[in-house]
Amino acid sequence: MRIIGTVKEMQRECRRARSDASLGLVPTMGALHAGHLSLIERARGDNGAVAASIFVNPLQFGANEDLARYPRTFEDDCEQLERGGVDLLFAPTPEEMYPRVNGLRPETMVDPGAIATRLDGASRPGHFAGVATVVAKLLHIVQPDRAYFGQKDAAQLAVLRQMVRDLNFDLELIACPIVRDEDGLALSSRNRYLSAEERRIALVIPEVLANLRGRMESGERRSAELVRAGEAKLAAEAGLALDYLAVVDPETLLPVSEVVPGMLVAIAAKVGETRLIDNFIVG
Ligand code: PAJ
Repeated sequence: MRIIGTVKEMQRECRRARSDASLGLVPTMGALHAGHLSLIERARGDNGAVAASIFVNPLQFGANEDLARYPRTFEDDCEQLERGGVDLLFAPTPEEMYPRVNGLRPETMVDPGAIATRLDGASRPGHFAGVATVVAKLLHIVQPDRAYFGQKDAAQLAVLRQMVRDLNFDLELIACPIVRDEDGLALSSRNRYLSAEERRIALVIPEVLANLRGRMESGERRSAELVRAGEAKLAAEAGLALDYLAVVDPETLLPVSEVVPGMLVAIAAKVGETRLIDNFIVG
């Protein structure tokens, strides 16, 4: 695996890789776990060459969020990516991605519009513009045939699908299923912030999702009723502060009143200082 720190070299190596094989890209912020590795594995199977990126993108963190303490485990990440069969790893510094010109930071941003104000975007203003901007840059640098994202970040996926469509990116965006720990908690780089007690509390999130899935399978179709039942269960857990529990269209992130197959049921909540998200698509 070749580790590359500059945009110029990454562009050159990706151009070379694309000339004799299809190229897949897996963007990450590092602190890798089996969820990230499932994306790598899928990309490995679909493409002749695989590129990954590790970049903790300052643009997508709010002023009071965890940018400074976001876990950084670069050496361990490199070992995992190497074993996963990644050919090119792009790991730029913030200065390389957002260089100052005449002392000024770049100002051009991708504005996803109204979708960026829904679900996580409602409580994290500017977050999805930061995600869309960095992903647009990565897609331009790498120009992959396919790019891989996790269904765990369902709202991010909707924002990126819209961007790829609206701005005519010439690639296939591939959504990969959520990977969970044995206890049911969706894997996340942020899980390492949780104390043992917080982790116990956090398990109510997948439990509520499983409960809602059960109610739907037994015929409940009213979103309002499902949201009410789920919120009641989450409110009973004192250590958890709910951000949202919503039933939405996974393309637009707009609420739906009747649950039909394909709709997205999503939860975001804070346990202590840690923000967790999870979801499922109605079968
Ligand atoms: P990060 O949180 O590192 O996630 C990188 C990719 O891994 C995302 O597509 C995410 O959805 C996926 N992923 C995370 N946990 C997963 C799990 N348990 N199962 C399956 N996939 C999972 O998402 C980001 O970074 C950033 O916003 C990024 C897209 C890299 C832009 O900065």
